[in-house]
Amino acid sequence: MSDDGLFPVELVQPETDDAGPRLVAPGAVHVPGWLTFEQQRWIVARFAEWTQGPVPLRAATLPGGHQMSVKTVCLGWHWQPYRYTREATDVNGRPVLDFPDWMVRLGRKAVAAAYAPAIVEDASLNSLAEDYTPDAALVNFYDDGAAMGMHQDKDERSGAPVVSLSIGDSCVFRFGNTKTRTKPYTDVPLQSGDLFVFGGSSRFAYHGIPKVHPRTAPSECGLTHGRINITMRVTGLS
Ligand code: SIN
Ligand code: MN
Repeated sequence: MSDDGLFPVELVQPETDDAGPRLVAPGAVHVPGWLTFEQQRWIVARFAEWTQGPVPLRAATLPGGHQMSVKTVCLGWHWQPYRYTREATDVNGRPVLDFPDWMVRLGRKAVAAAYAPAIVEDASLNSLAEDYTPDAALVNFYDDGAAMGMHQDKDERSGAPVVSLSIGDSCVFRFGNTKTRTKPYTDVPLQSGDLFVFGGSSRFAYHGIPKVHPRTAPSECGLTHGRINITMRVTGLS
């Protein structure tokens, strides 16, 4: 990964109990222990910078007045329920941070890892990584007790995959179907360093986080408590 600028290279992956990448649904792949601890710590340091502004970490308020328990800071495009804007018009009106080049490269590596031919037998997915160019990231912070209800990521005008990275406390990621927010779904345990990619026929599947397990973050990940999740998306906006 010599072309990744400051993004750290480390060959030692975190230990994981899991056997390896797993196809959860067509186009939906869980890759345990994908980020090294050094990479996780580096991203945690970037997170501390992103939360300094210009737009602070904030809990979005949904139409109807319900405030989310998860707090979010965005890169590239600011997400607010339910649209993307260049300025955080629902927070302080300030411009969103740029989407970093290193994260585009990381997103490509993530798609390549998840959609490798050994994992996904679908040529249209195997070839996606090269051109994958995410332009928005929602960086979520889950403090004790935070959760996220079942929803679809559908504010994008693109069917390109969503790349999800987790750092800190482990959680249950509920990955469902494209028709309803209820069963059938699969509960996937996500740990610090895990990658999850959902695209193809799972791109618009309902998903959510019913439970984060407090104080389960490994000390090496750089986060003392809570959970960071980054989802990279292609908005299809200009
Ligand atoms: C999301 O669906 O936007 C976040 C998922 C997660 O926290 O893993
Ligand atoms: Mn989502």
